[in-house]
Amino acid sequence: MCGIVGYVGKRECADVLVDGLKRLEYRGYDSSGIAVFQNGKIAVEKSKGKLVDLESKMEKQGKPQGHCGIGHTRWATHGEPSDINSHPHGNKRVTIVHNGIIENYRQIKEFLIGQGYGFESETDTETVAKLLDYFYSGDPIETISKMIDKVNGSYALGILFRDFPDTVFAVRKESPLIIGLGEGENFIASDVTPILKYTKNYYLLEYNEIAVIKEDSVTICTPEGKEIHKEVHTADWDVDAAEKGGYEHFMLKEINEQPVAIKTTIAPRIQEGMPYLEESGLTMEMLKNYRRIFVVACGTAMHAGLVGKYVIEKLARVEVTVDIASEFRYRDPLIEKEDLVILISQSGETADTYAALKMAKERGADTLGIVNVKGSTIARESDIVIYTHAGPEISVASTKAYSVQLSIMYLLAFELAYAKGAISKERCMELTKQLADIPEKLNEVLGIKERCQFIASRLVNAESLLYIGRGLDYALSMEGSLKLKEISYIHSESYAAGELKHGTISLVTEDMPVIAVATQSNLLEKTISNVKEVKARGAKVNVICTEDVEIGKDVANHLIKIPKMEDLLMPLLAAVPMQYIAYYTAVLKGCDVDQPRNLAKSVTVE
Ligand code: G6P
Repeated sequence: MCGIVGYVGKRECADVLVDGLKRLEYRGYDSSGIAVFQNGKIAVEKSKGKLVDLESKMEKQGKPQGHCGIGHTRWATHGEPSDINSHPHGNKRVTIVHNGIIENYRQIKEFLIGQGYGFESETDTETVAKLLDYFYSGDPIETISKMIDKVNGSYALGILFRDFPDTVFAVRKESPLIIGLGEGENFIASDVTPILKYTKNYYLLEYNEIAVIKEDSVTICTPEGKEIHKEVHTADWDVDAAEKGGYEHFMLKEINEQPVAIKTTIAPRIQEGMPYLEESGLTMEMLKNYRRIFVVACGTAMHAGLVGKYVIEKLARVEVTVDIASEFRYRDPLIEKEDLVILISQSGETADTYAALKMAKERGADTLGIVNVKGSTIARESDIVIYTHAGPEISVASTKAYSVQLSIMYLLAFELAYAKGAISKERCMELTKQLADIPEKLNEVLGIKERCQFIASRLVNAESLLYIGRGLDYALSMEGSLKLKEISYIHSESYAAGELKHGTISLVTEDMPVIAVATQSNLLEKTISNVKEVKARGAKVNVICTEDVEIGKDVANHLIKIPKMEDLLMPLLAAVPMQYIAYYTAVLKGCDVDQPRNLAKSVTVE
């Protein structure tokens, strides 16, 4: 959701900016633009649509030439996607790019209109640009400080002042921004992916710190102008991790990266055969004392929380409530000091999840962030953070991040169950061993792609699909259904199989294919009964089950068989056919798999 890049150095700035923006494309956007100092003046180019549209516009009109500038991919919030609403915004004196939402932009706009300012766009961003112009005194830091005082909301800003043609200024509140530190060149970016090609070193900009970036220096100061000495961070992702590496799409690459991602995530957290989360600050003593657990997240991360709930409650006998973050933050939940609130987030920047974190902290509960992006807001502000090591996830539809989130939830469940005395050390070790075996089993499951391709070919013309399952299979089918919706644009719904006859079965006809997940041995017979019910109403049924299960043609049209493991761990294996089915259906439909319409990878606004 909105990407920002900025560059000062010797390279052709427009090329660096467009290349950087391409690496942020995954965040989701509908228009883009750049501003570059050309012969001392700020030259702006912007376009609705994809970056190729901006590139072809610049090919026709000539791209701005220069060595200092800012760029942006916009995901529309205020005003439709259009050339005019695209960033950069401003005038000849001050030009900005912005990620976030300015809450009091109407008041600011009215005030500025009163001062004689005119506005071209419908964006909140233009009001900040004009406010900066209004305050401009010749001193950028003083000007930015005055803006900070007046503006409410979230922002990461890249700013150019005409009088400083060799400098990019930046400031942030809530929305993320990093400063890339190169040799004779420096950068700003929404995350590390645009800078990896040039440098791995960066600063994390904190709230209302103002950065002054020149080709050979970066200075960070407070709004009062006091210089701040920052710690240099080093990215541990390499540039290849953010490339397709021969795969047709990032999503396919990321599905295939799951065994390695899980291994990298769990290996350091297993010691002498037991889960070991102490390093992150989560001790056995703490686990023993938590009364209840809340898991709060959005989208796929929330689905990982649902699997976690089943496993924790089953093993540790501790009550777990899973909430969608946008609901949690407004429902006045009954959180107490003895509770643990777990925030799951790939990006670590999701606005609603972050708001939930702040609320949980205010109420005195311990907060645990399960986060993929190092140094992200949720990671930094949680009391305890456990990083998942999935590497960069570029495809908007999350796959490997889901698997690593599940892996951490399992380790947590095992350790919690042991800490609470609900399982023996032997059982804890046995479960941990099975989890450690998952990557190998997953390599086997990844081999069933042709079968999934075939199933996808049967789904491609469907208008609507039903995913059904019971228990953990139901929790997983929610994720399967979301994956399909996100990238193939086929409507689907996931339903608890036993609940079908209370309403939804009325929708079942021969035109509504069903995907049933039946990996839980204690629920198998029950789920099969539900499968028979939908089959009897004409549905074409595809069943994902373990290899030991025999299901006749009269019961299901097609089977996808996966290796059998401990029931509790089956979601980690069954996720793969779900992901493949969504992927191949989208490919067959000719959809933009990695950047589905209207979606953003990182949702930094409410
Ligand atoms: C967006 C993404 C999803 C993701 C969700 C939560 O909707 O498209 O893939 O699951 O946000 O994101 P987070 O970064 O907090 O895991």
